[in-house]
Amino acid sequence: ATCERYAVRRLPFARLADGDVAFFERLMPGRVVTGEEEVKPFNVDWLKSVRGCSQLVLKPQTTAEVSQILRYCHERNLAVNPQGGNTGLVGGSVPVFDEIILSTALMNQIISFDKVSGILVCQAGCVLERLNEYLEEQGFIMPLDLGAKGSCHIGGNVATNAGGLRLLRYGSLRGTVLGLEVVQADGSALDCLTSLRKDNTGYDLKQLFIGSEGTLGVITAVSILCPQKPKAVNLAFLGCQSFAKVLETFTTCRAMLGEILSAYEFMDEKCMELVERHLKLSSPVTDSPFYVLIETSGSNSTHDEEKLNNFLEQAMASGLVTDGTVATDDKKIKMLWSLRERITEALTHEGYVYKYDISLPVGKLYDLVTDMRARLGQSAKNVVGYGHLGDGNLHLNITAESYSHSLLDAIEPFVYEWTARYSGSISAEHGLGFKKKQFIQYSKPREAVVLMQQFKAMLDPKGILNPYKTLPSALESSTC
Ligand code: FAD
Ligand code: MLT
Ligand code: ZN
Repeated sequence: ATCERYAVRRLPFARLADGDVAFFERLMPGRVVTGEEEVKPFNVDWLKSVRGCSQLVLKPQTTAEVSQILRYCHERNLAVNPQGGNTGLVGGSVPVFDEIILSTALMNQIISFDKVSGILVCQAGCVLERLNEYLEEQGFIMPLDLGAKGSCHIGGNVATNAGGLRLLRYGSLRGTVLGLEVVQADGSALDCLTSLRKDNTGYDLKQLFIGSEGTLGVITAVSILCPQKPKAVNLAFLGCQSFAKVLETFTTCRAMLGEILSAYEFMDEKCMELVERHLKLSSPVTDSPFYVLIETSGSNSTHDEEKLNNFLEQAMASGLVTDGTVATDDKKIKMLWSLRERITEALTHEGYVYKYDISLPVGKLYDLVTDMRARLGQSAKNVVGYGHLGDGNLHLNITAESYSHSLLDAIEPFVYEWTARYSGSISAEHGLGFKKKQFIQYSKPREAVVLMQQFKAMLDPKGILNPYKTLPSALESSTC
């Protein structure tokens, strides 16, 4: 049984039959995965915290194949779980029961890139890091960057509306994605793959699919606006003695760095301890309760360095920052970024990770960590905070040797009530997936949830696309 931990019952979808597998084998010979061991990696999420029991993975190469798969599944009433790089953190990327996994792993072709406009059109299964490497050769970069870049697919990024490390500078995918091609639940393709900056002809339908986590359609291609690769990148890694100083450093650097500021990230000392212990990374900046990472990206290194140095002088002189290092060369920049980017990985070495991704008024950001630490006491191994401070986004993570229901009860719904009290969001960037869908009401009014359910019913009347995810269901008891 998959879902003892969560009370959920399998919906009355059809069960996979031999004839179904034979149909798919004919449709895409050699790209149909069966067998428990072969399917297993697709059934388990990155955090190894949820597991489905699908018996079939399909790897289409073209939009036409995705259409044929969905037309067939729609007719047969077979449930489907779209999957990209399977790096999602809310249990949305793996089946809950026996849903067929539709993987975009082989939809990895770049369709076009226009050097004048900076607009890239590609299939949904392109790996984010490969796209960035391709663009760098032409003097451009992707407008988003995240720790999972080596595995996540652009389609998965769009489906989750991933934020990441560059959002402060280049904005969210809701602005940079210009067009999408989507296959709907009944197999019909919707071609909204335009490459226009401006297009006010009717409703902006692509926005419905951005962040819809595979519940409204399968994204098959993406048109995205890419910025120029900055000529000068600098990174400052600094130590602060209190969270109040982290905040004041942010306001000071925003004022002094202006348009060249491209990231403002923070982590607490516990995060640093974990990346050093588990990943053998070593930080040149030590002995601080908080660390901040400030990145500048611009077109003139002399100008940018002068601005950064002026800021650093002021920050040191006024006692905002007590220790720090600056990097301008690629190798050191990468090394410093890894201290922040690899916290997620370091945490998994500690046992079971309870992961929260919260938007809050920036001044309240760390109070939630402090309150949670006091609340949980010795029952948690670690209570840590890090995240995209410049975007008002806290990653609160709690670890324990293994999963415990009583610890979960101590955390939830407290964490959601706390967030709602300050009008925050219970999911800033990871989505709701399977793990958080029952808590949507902490961040959305009932009327909004009802409207979402109506959209879902209209676009996927049989509910075959990523069932049990994103939208709340009545709680029921379960077996697989
Ligand atoms: P998957 O995990 O495969 O799927 C995610 C969801 O999208 C699922 O619901 C799935 O059904 C759906 N989906 C996938 N592809 C499609 C498609 N083509 N059409 C329709 N639906 C689809 N997120 C952030 O926002 N910011 C971060 O900084 C960040 N850092 C991360 C760092 C690490 C180390 C890890 C492991 C994850 C991180 N994430 C972050 C989580 C983030 O959601 C994913 O990394 C990424 O956006 C998901 O892409 P994916 O291809 O792996 O999608
Ligand atoms: C990050 O910012 O590191 C990611 O969102 C992953 C995480 O929350 O651990
Ligand atoms: Zn994040």
